[in-house]
Amino acid sequence: MREDCEQQFAAAARLDEVPAGSVKAVTLNGRSVLLCNSNARIFAIINRCSHADEKLECGKMKSGWIACPAHGARFDLATGQAKNPPAKQPIEVFAVRIVGDLIEVEIWKQKEELLF
Ligand code: FES
Repeated sequence: MREDCEQQFAAAARLDEVPAGSVKAVTLNGRSVLLCNSNARIFAIINRCSHADEKLECGKMKSGWIACPAHGARFDLATGQAKNPPAKQPIEVFAVRIVGDLIEVEIWKQKEELLF
């Protein structure tokens, strides 16, 4: 829980923009987030590998994981945990909710920002 921040959800894409087995990179709150449709579920992960900061959007995705295209580390889409080297650190994952035909992703904003 981030006490100086407040959780909000932001519209990221329409459901039909991320068909089964595909990914879509979007920018949310100034950060590149990758929407992933795998195992009949939408996931949202940071679009950056924890090993050497490569983008994950061109990586192979299968059965709830995505592989970094640079050196092959795989990450669990639900938890962000690295499944094999060379990555050791997890990647950030975000809560997702579906509202009508929209995919919404959690974002965190400084509480002061919400006042303006
Ligand atoms: S940059 Fe992703 S595994 Fe090396």
